Amino acid sequence: MHAVVLVGGFGTRLRPLTYSIPKPLLPVGHVPLVERAIETLVAGGVTEVTLALGFKPEPFMERFPDSTCAGAQLHYAVEPEPLDTAGAIAFAARHSGINETFVVANGDVLTDLNVADLVAFHRERGAQATIHLIPVDDPSQYGVVETEVDGRVTRFVEKPQPGDTTSRMINAGTYVLEPNVIDLVPVGARMSVEREVFPAIAATGRMYAMPADVYWIDAGRADTYLQANLDTINGNRRFKVPPVAESATVAPDALIENSIICAGATVEFGAKITNSVLLPGSYVATQSVVNQTTVMGRIDPCCKVANSMIGADGVVQAGSQIVDALIPDPAKVS
Ligand code: GDD
Ligand code: MG
Repeated sequence: MHAVVLVGGFGTRLRPLTYSIPKPLLPVGHVPLVERAIETLVAGGVTEVTLALGFKPEPFMERFPDSTCAGAQLHYAVEPEPLDTAGAIAFAARHSGINETFVVANGDVLTDLNVADLVAFHRERGAQATIHLIPVDDPSQYGVVETEVDGRVTRFVEKPQPGDTTSRMINAGTYVLEPNVIDLVPVGARMSVEREVFPAIAATGRMYAMPADVYWIDAGRADTYLQANLDTINGNRRFKVPPVAESATVAPDALIENSIICAGATVEFGAKITNSVLLPGSYVATQSVVNQTTVMGRIDPCCKVANSMIGADGVVQAGSQIVDALIPDPAKVS
């Protein structure tokens, strides 16, 4: 089965990390985010993946030089300009000549959904489009879905205003589509699947949704990116990875608690790392205390850093105490 994975966003909410690495290639549990997303698709029967890319395809080709990822064959569809979600799906599907039932996934969504169950649910109902639903407390930042008891979608409201809907079930970002959904998008058109295509299919009664309250996170924000990493070591996923990479250098008396230390990262004597992610190449000097922070760059001796993101060019000067910081600060980077 073929899948289209949407990875064309700019990763603005993960700056400064995304200045040096595109969001889908940022590590989650030591491997790229998009590879974690593709692992789930492959477990559900996907064998071919077309990456719907908006810009900068080169880092992807370098990262997956034999054009395979998590056991799937990779194809690259590079849009000439951002076509929005439906435009991107149609562009990628035409690029790869998809002419059978296929899967679509938002590239920043990590889930333990059984994708084969979603495909079976779709086929049983003879649906044109079927989406995975997940319950959340605050649906305002998502696509909210209203359904009949049999799963038929009666309403799809992207980013609802307060009072728009009472449903707490949201679009979890994994879809099964019939190939004729592509025909709803004119060639080269910029179009949103959430705002235009899904409401149109729902109006014909051929859109369905399958609730499955499984592990699920949209890793596209600072707090959720950090959490998605910690979830690969704390037993929240179907799998578990070792927190400290073999090639990391960690001083014997450094304290590492509920944190991931990636390949090539260094933690010096007396440093204390809690609830944090040290990405490849990062450096934490002696006696520094790091909590709830993602580090790509360097933290000098005797610092206290909390709830922050330190980009590849970021340096926290010796003795600094910082909270809620982005270094370098994207507001000041031209
Ligand atoms: N190729 C391409 N081109 N990809 C794009 C484009 C584009 O023009 N625009 C967005 N994408 C990709 C993003 O990279 C991301 O993987 C995916 O489409 C969704 O975009 P986001 O910007 O992450 O959307 P969101 O998180 O606000 O909302 C979406 O996900 C929610 C679940 O996490 C929607 O699908 C919601 O309905 C859903 O609830
Ligand atoms: Mg998202």
